Amino acid sequence: MLNSFWNWFVIILTLVNILACWWLLYWTKGISNREDGKTTTGHEWDGLTELNNPLPRWWLHLFNISIVLALVYLILYPGLGNMTGVLGWTQLKQYDAELVAANATEQAVFGRFGDMDPQALMADSEAGEIGRRLFANNCAMCHGSDARGAPGFPNLTDDDWLYGGSFDQILTSISNGRVGAMPAWGAALGGDDGVNEVVAYVQQLSGQNVDSELAMAGKARFNMFCIACHGVDGTGNQALGAPNLSNGIWLYGGSASTLAETISKGRSGKMPAHKSLINEQRRRVLAAYVKGLSDTGGQ
Ligand code: HEC
Ligand code: HEC
Repeated sequence: MLNSFWNWFVIILTLVNILACWWLLYWTKGISNREDGKTTTGHEWDGLTELNNPLPRWWLHLFNISIVLALVYLILYPGLGNMTGVLGWTQLKQYDAELVAANATEQAVFGRFGDMDPQALMADSEAGEIGRRLFANNCAMCHGSDARGAPGFPNLTDDDWLYGGSFDQILTSISNGRVGAMPAWGAALGGDDGVNEVVAYVQQLSGQNVDSELAMAGKARFNMFCIACHGVDGTGNQALGAPNLSNGIWLYGGSASTLAETISKGRSGKMPAHKSLINEQRRRVLAAYVKGLSDTGGQ
């Protein structure tokens, strides 16, 4: 609400402007009907004179009509200071109405999915198509448009899961996000030598050829520092998001140098929570889509 000074300021300025337009039209019309009967402006260049014809009638009427429309508009809609206009229209009311309409459209598309169990959602081709689009818009920048990930961003099309590959576990990953916490072990392992031993053992776990003596020494350290999270045989723990180190599938990489970096400095991958960004109906459609990707190997 404008205070009364600005209220009247706006009202008077608006009305004076409209009046001025009308006066301008009237005045210029007068010029062209001058009593002295002259039909030129009086400008002359090398014998050429400038005519002063009246505006064409139809043109003049367009101006008149727009003045009338402006007044009608100000009666119907807000515009003159604090006056609300007889239609009672506001941006807020329009927004609310559009919101109701948008929700109805959303319900028409997503309402059907609300009652579906995960199995039915995965089988539904329309849900699949919507899931694909949601993924492209919200997830592809990190997990890749083919969902196969990149170093630090897990591949979602294989059957190897940090946090579990059931529909509910995937939905939880999407809704609440995930934070992987692999501590830095460089100091605890006594520097590079200790790290290199453990690296050799982890490589051995995943089936790579390594110096077996080095790996042997690494195993002792692994049992001391690592099995609490990665398990005795290195197969990982989904409750902690500790990856399986024995299957040759890597989040960060399985080369000696990458492993040494991971183990000495630690890692912390973050999957952002999408609860407040994507509503539940859509998250369920997404979870079904992602689950479908790994079930079909990404096809
Ligand atoms: C900002 C980057 C980013 C975005 C955006 C993102 N993710 Fe992730 N996501 C990650 C990272 C990083 C991880 C691994 C977290 C970790 O290391 O613990 C992850 C993990 C996951 C996991 C768990 C994988 C597993 O193996 O258990 C799922 C499922 C997942 N994301 C699905 C999605 C979906 C679906 C979307 C889109 C709504 C999405 N992510 C958007 C970065 C992202
Ligand atoms: C407190 C639990 C915990 C302990 C203890 C732990 N890790 Fe981890 N480790 C994790 C988690 C969680 C991740 C995943 C980090 C992420 O998602 O960003 C991880 C990741 C890794 C990776 C990366 C795997 C890949 O796919 O790229 C390696 C290698 C690894 N850990 C080795 C070790 C070794 C060796 C030790 C013992 C010196 C160890 N971890 C101790 C929790 C642990």
